[in-house]
Amino acid sequence: RTVYVNGDYLPEADAKISIFDRGFLMADGVYEVTSVLDGKLIDFDGHAVRLERSLTELDMGMPMSRDDLLEIHRELVRLNEIDEGMIYLQITRGAPADRDFAFPDPEETAQTVVLFTQNKPGLADNPVAKQGIKVISIEDIRWGRRDIKTVQLLYPSMGKMMAKKAGADDAWMVEDGFVTEGTSNNAYIVKGNKIITRELSKDILHGITRAAVLRFAREAQMEVEERNFTIDEVKQADEAFITSASTFVMPVVAIDGTAIGDGVPGAKALRLREIYLEESR
Ligand code: PDD
Repeated sequence: RTVYVNGDYLPEADAKISIFDRGFLMADGVYEVTSVLDGKLIDFDGHAVRLERSLTELDMGMPMSRDDLLEIHRELVRLNEIDEGMIYLQITRGAPADRDFAFPDPEETAQTVVLFTQNKPGLADNPVAKQGIKVISIEDIRWGRRDIKTVQLLYPSMGKMMAKKAGADDAWMVEDGFVTEGTSNNAYIVKGNKIITRELSKDILHGITRAAVLRFAREAQMEVEERNFTIDEVKQADEAFITSASTFVMPVVAIDGTAIGDGVPGAKALRLREIYLEESR
């Protein structure tokens, strides 16, 4: 696989970054995951806008123009012959001479920019979407700026492991009695004609897939309600699903061992998946 590191396209084995990189030492960095379908980037602009916002919120700037970033994405898709898959992009505050809690002077320390591809044939036609996934609920103990897409993913990783241990696929996090989001996706329930999902705030990541799916839902005459919901409401819902760049729209069929609706993927979730895949290609 060919990867990108700070201006160079290299075989992955030759790609190196410093042990002093603040991404490595302090999780001082941000990332984006953009999906690729039919060799084309899905919603690149949305990801680029959010990236710029994440960087700005952490007093970092874009290391290059949006067009240059797009060019690197396209070049990696081409070099690795990706038809269906993902591109991972990470930008960290770079590698100053020493470990220090204070941010280094940006004039003296260049940011680290890394991109790599993940080939996932069958991503759109994922058989898991026909079965749906099972989730458990866990307490959301992450920090208070979940709207910034940082690389501090230890708790979401632990959540995923708790889910696996419980025989489920993923975890929905709960704060003050309300669902925030999934470990790496936004969370939704369906009640009648209503698609219900938490409103945007610092409590959740502002999903690029979420924005598109809510737009498609409205266009398909579904009602969209952006509000908090509880685990009890999930158990009473007709359907549930998640969205993310790597899963698109994925039905959720059970929570904490309780079947949601009929315990099979819901019609609205499947319809939204279909629309999303049609419209974003
Ligand atoms: N995760 N919420 C969280 C906590 C996420 O990590 C993600 C994305 C989302 C969905 O955002 P989007 O629709 O823009 O992908 C919501 C990516 C896919 C990941 O970490 O792999």
